[in-house]
Amino acid sequence: MTIKTVATTPFSDQKPGTSGLRKAVPRFQESNYLENFIQSIFDSLEGYQGQTLVVGGDGRYYNRQAIQIILKMSAANGWGRVKVGQSGILSTPATSCVVRKYNAFGGIILSASHNPGGPDGDFGVKYNIGNGGPAPEKVTSAIYERSKQISEYKILEADDLDLDRLGETTLGDMTVEVIDAVQDYQELLESLFDFDRIQQLLMGGNFRMCMDSLHAVTGPYAHAIFEKRLGAPAGTVQNGKPLEDFGGGHPDPNLVYAHDLVDIMFGEDAPDFGAASDGDGDRNMILGRHFFVTPSDSLAILAANATVAPGYKDGLAGVARSMPTSAAADRVAQQLGIDCYETPTGWKFFGNLLDAGKATLCGEESFGTGSDHVREKDGLWAVLFWLNVLAVKQQSVEEIVQEHWKSYGRNYYSRHDYEAVESDRANALMTNLRNALPDMKGKQLGSYTVDYADDFSYTDPVDGSVSEKQGVRIGFTDGSRIVFRLSGTGTKGATLRVYLESYEPNPAKHDVDPQTALKPLIDIAEEVAQIKSCTGMDEPTVIT
Ligand code: G6P
Ligand code: ZN
Repeated sequence: MTIKTVATTPFSDQKPGTSGLRKAVPRFQESNYLENFIQSIFDSLEGYQGQTLVVGGDGRYYNRQAIQIILKMSAANGWGRVKVGQSGILSTPATSCVVRKYNAFGGIILSASHNPGGPDGDFGVKYNIGNGGPAPEKVTSAIYERSKQISEYKILEADDLDLDRLGETTLGDMTVEVIDAVQDYQELLESLFDFDRIQQLLMGGNFRMCMDSLHAVTGPYAHAIFEKRLGAPAGTVQNGKPLEDFGGGHPDPNLVYAHDLVDIMFGEDAPDFGAASDGDGDRNMILGRHFFVTPSDSLAILAANATVAPGYKDGLAGVARSMPTSAAADRVAQQLGIDCYETPTGWKFFGNLLDAGKATLCGEESFGTGSDHVREKDGLWAVLFWLNVLAVKQQSVEEIVQEHWKSYGRNYYSRHDYEAVESDRANALMTNLRNALPDMKGKQLGSYTVDYADDFSYTDPVDGSVSEKQGVRIGFTDGSRIVFRLSGTGTKGATLRVYLESYEPNPAKHDVDPQTALKPLIDIAEEVAQIKSCTGMDEPTVIT
């Protein structure tokens, strides 16, 4: 087997976004496109020679082909060992778990998360560092810089490896180990949650759950954990076979895209508990019978009830949420007397807080929840956490949430997305907003008075790094808030996200439809940002 050095020229669009490099499949299939990016990752790392790399993906179209290329390039570049998930499958949280457990140098996850897959869908590459978390900005910037200079890459000339058979083989001087995708991860979850109690709940005959894996990566994990280990009846997990195109669906666990599950949970004879996860298994959606739990509330409720789970019985060091996530968790933190951190959007910003022991639970409005057990958000972890809470409290999902609101007040919350807006128009909208910020403080908008208006900037309390321009915030004197930002994960044009939040302490007013409760803020958002005329769209594409 010989190592080939291939001459190449840079691609100008290899700048990683909120979560790795994400492009349409045909772009990734262009000659040298993937190779350039992988070599750029390797070139910007120091000291990986002889070390272990973990590789896996969410099973989407091009996953297997990409893994073969990465294995051959890893061998040619001097990695000592690659642990690869069986059949090329590893969820994002499971990758994080394996990187940490085996002290790997890093991991490569092939996924475009919740974006659709298939030959015309999206593909993506994320690099994770040795703590198991997404590469921080200094690493992704270095990769991008390298991608603009690259002139050659190295690859081993070898036959494709069998990714389906467990065990070790060699590839040049490197060892390739095909690992069980579920086992390490399942062991970790068993150490955190009261599996006996959850098993009693699931086998007791009075409780039914429905888990929708949306034909994405959590299928094998969910079958193994809920049905095999915890004894839930076969059929509890639906759409549990990972498909290269996710069965034509959009593997995003929200009320719009997880419609099969939503129909079941809001239909007649609905189960007690429903959950879904995304393409790569790091997102989650939690539903009760005829009831939706917002991700922001979910974080707050898990924080308030954390000590029911064995892994968190000693309490939490702190909680952290992304800036656009509602302040529901802040109220819990205040009551618990612990810190609540507010970070920019992107799980990578939680990494330092978790490593430094400042936060135990983290969450984002974008259906992400997780803890210090790994360095990624974790869909099935959130589902098990909820099951643990339900098993201990013996109440319905709705009762738990209502009770929570009664104690802490309700943060009404909604996100309006305008997808595939022309980039220039979206940028112009944001520029106009930014220009208007200096004059906003004290201004009266509808019945609200502006308390502050800024472009969110974050100084990491651990390493002092500063991230600017993370979203325009308009806060009102009563605690209500509107946030505008452009998505960092879309691949078609720009996506404008408008986050709306208001606080209602009075339990008598906790039963209003969020779109109704937030209507005054929705109108103000239109007034200040001129969304309709700027985007050319009359309505949001997705409301969550
Ligand atoms: C990914 C990241 C999350 C982030 C989400 C939304 O899932 O891992 O941390 O919150 O994307 O990002 P966006 O930039 O599209 O709002
Ligand atoms: Zn994801």
